Amino acid sequence: MNSDLLIHRLDRQFPGLGFAEWRAGPYHALWEARAQRIGLVPFGVDGAIHGRAHTRRVLLLSAFLAARRSLAPEMADRLFMACVYHDTGRQDDQVDPTHGECSCAVYRRENPPDEVVEALIRWHCITDKVAMEQIGRLPQGAVTAFRMLKDADALDRQRFGDLRAEMLRLPDSRLLIPVAKYLVDFMR
Ligand SMILES: [Fe+2]
Repeated sequence: MNSDLLIHRLDRQFPGLGFAEWRAGPYHALWEARAQRIGLVPFGVDGAIHGRAHTRRVLLLSAFLAARRSLAPEMADRLFMACVYHDTGRQDDQVDPTHGECSCAVYRRENPPDEVVEALIRWHCITDKVAMEQIGRLPQGAVTAFRMLKDADALDRQRFGDLRAEMLRLPDSRLLIPVAKYLVDFMR
């Protein structure tokens, strides 16, 4: 679906969540640039579970969260880059706590080093407690960006129908639960 049409529909479906304002604000342009990249990066698996469609939804949900919390634009851009690559290293759709490292390797083959982007990708697939020991050492905003990536990834569990609100880390993420369901239906 055309992104303008999608945002228009989201704004009509969820009038209190500010999608029209998001479309006119700075996060939209950052999101759009990274969304275009999803078609170009290599994916180890590109099926219905962890492929490009999932990645597009995670990126868009992250972009909504970044706008709602006014994440600094330079940190938002790093978050969006991490979204693009976070599942590229998967070799199958099974539970795999090592694919963050493999996805990070894909990122590094194609981009200059960035400690924040690399950490977000590397640590997104393990427990928060262990991940935070690493993420907590990064520049200001990285912890929030990490929580946004994790919540956006969790919100897309709507594709399995087993999302629970208590899984989410940020209050804004809970507002996006029905939006995530809508995206599963319309961003395939
Ligand atoms: Fe994911």
